[in-house]
Amino acid sequence: MVPKPDSTATPGLSTATAMQFDILTIFPQMFAPLQMSILGRAQATGLLTVNVHDIRAAARDRHHTVDDAPFGGGAGMVFKPEVIWQALAAVLDTDAGDEETPPALPDPHPPVIYLSPTGEVLTQQLASELAREPRLVLICGHYEGIDERLREHVVDREISIGDYVLTGGELAAMVLVDAVARLQPGVLAAASPLDESHSDGLLEYPHYTRPATWRGLGVPPVLMSGHHAQIARWRHEQRLLRTLRHRADLLGRAPLSDRDRTFLRTAGWDETTNRFAQKGTGDAD
Ligand code: ADE
Repeated sequence: MVPKPDSTATPGLSTATAMQFDILTIFPQMFAPLQMSILGRAQATGLLTVNVHDIRAAARDRHHTVDDAPFGGGAGMVFKPEVIWQALAAVLDTDAGDEETPPALPDPHPPVIYLSPTGEVLTQQLASELAREPRLVLICGHYEGIDERLREHVVDREISIGDYVLTGGELAAMVLVDAVARLQPGVLAAASPLDESHSDGLLEYPHYTRPATWRGLGVPPVLMSGHHAQIARWRHEQRLLRTLRHRADLLGRAPLSDRDRTFLRTAGWDETTNRFAQKGTGDAD
């Protein structure tokens, strides 16, 4: 792996450094949405580089064949190892070697990630870990996936975005790019993502904006009180309640104070099973 340059070396200067993604796909057009909104702006300002590479360009035959039938029979097709390896070697600017030599990635090299439903599941913690890398290479699979020898010899990490099966790795790659890129310093214009959902094991508190009464519906009075300590406490309690009601499984890993635990038990938390055992009295949905 390649260490990220020390962006804090010069006190007083911006701490933002650019992050680069290289995506290998047979459907480059699918990545157009990454040009929009926050990630589009991050690319325009040089905080983020997303290079999309067409795997077919690495296929040497007249029809640009990228896949073949599986040995042993069965449904579906498998990405051919040589095509993916040639595409990857070109992206990493390394010699693919002769056809008798097993593939070898240069040392060091950016993590090579294969998006697949059989990978480790992407979490906020994994996104933060990946955000520390200066560059990631993503391979999007299709059909029955890639030849197993690629998994064994060139893929560093296999990542799934959840326990369901997509038609290909492209949407998963976009999810990963979004989750990781937004953690780069400077990519989000305003607040740091520190108190958002999953940043510390709890879900986010509820938000309200003007008007104070909308179609007869009000806003929790504490938010209009101007009392910062009470607002902070209310928000923290709402985070606890929301996590209890929507994702009680997260409470087992969340850093909870004794006071949090007492509050949650009163709201219906069964600490031994991490379940919401009874209806509490809090305001969160
Ligand atoms: N490709 C197909 N399904 C996927 C998933 N759940 N995560 C990542 N890549 C995939």
